[in-house]
This record gives sequence, C-alpha cells and structure tokens, in this order.
Amino acid sequence: MRALQNKGPIEIKLMNQEPSSPIAIRLVNVKKYFKDRDVEALGGVSLEVLRGEFITLIGPSGSGKSTLLELLGDIGDEGGPTGGEISIEGKTPEELRRTRGYGIVFQESTLFPWYRIFENCLLPFRIAKSRLPSKQQVQRIEMLLEMVGLDKKFWSYYPRELSGGMQQRVAIVRALALDPPLLLMDEPFGALDDLTRKSMQMLLLDIWSKTQKTILMVTHSISEACFMSDRVVVLSHRPGRIARIVSIPLDRPRERPMSETKAFARICSMVREALGSGGALEENGSIKE
Ligand SMILES: Nc1ncnc2c1ncn2[C@@H]1O[C@H](COP(=O)(O)OP(=O)(O)OP(=O)(O)O)[C@@H](O)[C@H]1O
Ligand SMILES: [Mg+2]
Repeated sequence: MRALQNKGPIEIKLMNQEPSSPIAIRLVNVKKYFKDRDVEALGGVSLEVLRGEFITLIGPSGSGKSTLLELLGDIGDEGGPTGGEISIEGKTPEELRRTRGYGIVFQESTLFPWYRIFENCLLPFRIAKSRLPSKQQVQRIEMLLEMVGLDKKFWSYYPRELSGGMQQRVAIVRALALDPPLLLMDEPFGALDDLTRKSMQMLLLDIWSKTQKTILMVTHSISEACFMSDRVVVLSHRPGRIARIVSIPLDRPRERPMSETKAFARICSMVREALGSGGALEENGSIKE
C-alpha cells in the first residue's frame, strides 16, 4: 500500500524526489486547520500517487476533499497546509501553480459568460502569457475540442447556450490547454444527469488514456470511483484521514459491461464498507451529508 499512515524517518526520506521518480504527488502527513472557523479539515493525509495514475477521492461531506485539492493547487484562500509536506512533480504547490503545472475542473463550469467557447478555451494561454505562436494555440484548442467531441458549430456559442455536459467538455479543454501533467477534478460530473454523466466518464477515460495525465478526481459516487480509477482513496469523517485505499483490479480499457459484474459489485462493497467504518454512510448506504 502506498499510503503512509505514520509519520516517521522513512517518509521524510521519501520527500527527496528525483526528477526521474515515477511518483507524481507525494503527501506526507498533510494537515489543514482553518483558524478563523476553528475547523480541523484534514487530520494528516499521507499518500503517493504515481505518474499517469487515475486516483479518485471519496468521503463524507466535510471530510476535506476539496480542501486537499485546493492545497495541491495552491488556491485556498487561507494559505497552505498547517502541517506536513506536499510535493508535486518535485515542486511545491506554489511552484506548480506558477508554472501552470496543473489543470483544474470544478462541479460547476467556471467558463466566463461573456466570452465565446473558443475564446474561453484560449484564455489559459493569455493568462499564462504563453509564447506559443497564436496559430499553434488555435490548433491545440481545435484538437482538444475535437477530442472532447464538441461539434464545431458550438465553438462560437456563449457558455449559457450549451448544456451542462457540453460546458464540462469545454472546462476539460480549458484545463488541458497548456498541457499540464496533472488534472485536479472536484466532482466534475456531480451536476450532470445520469446518462450524460456516464458518457462523460467514458470520455474522460479516453482522454486519460490518450494524454497519460495524472488525475486526482473527487467524487461522491462509489460506482464512478470504482469504474474509473486505479485506486480509490477513502477519507474518514472530519478531520479527514485516509480510512482505506482500495486498488481496482479491473482491466483497461474500462468498458461499461464491467460495471455489471459480480467482481465490480465486490469492489464497490469494499469501498462502501470503508466509508461505513469511517462513519460516512447513512443506513441506506448513501454518503452522509
Ligand atoms: N476557506 C475555509 N474557511 C474555513 N473553513 C473551511 C474553508 N474551506 C473549508 N472549510 C471547512 O473545512 C471542512 C472541509 O471542507 P471541504 O470543502 O474540504 O469538504 P469536502 O470533503 O469537499 O465536502 P463536500 O463533499 O461537501 O464537497 C468543512 O468543515 C468546511 O466547513
Ligand atoms: Mg467538496
């Protein structure tokens, strides 16, 4: 198991990350205490994520999943972790953010309503003051919009003229525009209807296999977590700690019928049990709010 549950000399040694290391993300006893609200959100999370791995984070509401992504992306409004260490591709979160080392997708599309879709997708180049010639920027966005299957006629639309699923496709394009090695996703499909959600799952798996990104995705859905990821990281009730890491032994590429098998049901029940033992489940099996 790659989770490092106890702080000790071995973990400290592991922080000396080499450039050739297969480890993309290293968290050592990461804690977060929100002083103004007197809330201990994360109680010490240690985890190693391999480069190119697809990890899902699941846990009850308030267990610190979004907080963890914010710490990784250095976008929290209350500074960094209050304890522990984070290293991503050998960088601190701040260095990663400055070098545009990750793309991020949220549950609600964060597209700018006054820009057309194509302009929204080009924004990361402008914000990063990219030196890539504008012709190549346009070509990259065209390639990505085609990859996510957004029909060309929508490229000149405004975000409000697109469905939720289409907007999330655009949000993925924007996150991938600068070709970062890491994608952080906070319940990216949480606001979509079931059918759209399932097709977005297949799309993301396809993108992941084509681009070889490391993905860290938060979800509330046990089946989504088990169907998509290599490992499911289950967080306990607040303060969030890793209750269990469940490795998913299903073949790649994942195909929909796999989620109908007994093996899949067993994997899901392992995650459900881990959530239950962390006190995360209601009696009917859904995640406590
Ligand atoms: N900026 C902040 N200031 C103060 N407290 C915060 C802040 N951000 C989060 N918290 C608190 O930290 C705890 C963890 O919040 P977080 O949003 O990370 O949970 P979550 O696991 O993402 O929950 P959900 O599943 O509902 O999205 C909560 O109690 C929340 O109120
Ligand atoms: Mg959250």
